[in-house]
Amino acid sequence: MRSIFCVLALTSILVSPSGEARVIPDPNQKPAPGNEARQTPLHEANYSPAVNYQLQCLGCHLTNGEGAPRSDVPMMKGFVGNFLKVEGGREFLIRVPGSSLSALNNQQLAELLNWILKDDGIAGSSAPKDFKPYTGDEVETYRGVMIKDLVGYRKMLIEQIRDLNIDIPKDVMP
Ligand code: HEC
Repeated sequence: MRSIFCVLALTSILVSPSGEARVIPDPNQKPAPGNEARQTPLHEANYSPAVNYQLQCLGCHLTNGEGAPRSDVPMMKGFVGNFLKVEGGREFLIRVPGSSLSALNNQQLAELLNWILKDDGIAGSSAPKDFKPYTGDEVETYRGVMIKDLVGYRKMLIEQIRDLNIDIPKDVMP
């Protein structure tokens, strides 16, 4: 009996003209009037770091980098600059998938990280005082170097930060 229902349901989907219209895009479809220009790819667009953050990072990291620790997105707010104080931490900020796999070009990603790390930015004043801004060349060198054990590697960095007697807030996710 159940199989008859299945066959009937399937047949009705297959023969329904509206069902078909929904799954097969119309090859002759035209853009809405006024919207004909090809969209500029992000790596060619000249948006500010703040806009690039909104487009590429905010969905997970939220407006002020507060993150969503319940969904395993760590808080960056007031803390992320501490990664620059330990070995491997500077490259880590380039190598995390959210950064390295973003649609931004190397220069845009460098500028975005520098924007995050500003004293009055997401990092608060957590970055070292002598912080040297990232460059596009540096991003190019490290963004392709995959982190094999992301969770383990991050834990190792957090432990090094803890060893510097820096407090690790719960939402940073030890
Ligand atoms: C799909 C969700 C997601 C997006 C989008 C995302 N990230 Fe992340 N980000 C994470 C998660 C989860 C972590 C923790 C490490 C990991 O598992 O990748 C993280 C970690 C980081 C870290 C290191 C901080 C830490 O405490 O581990 C930086 C820096 C970072 N992301 C920057 C960015 C930037 C810049 C963008 C946008 C270009 C971005 N992320 C987009 C989810 C995301």
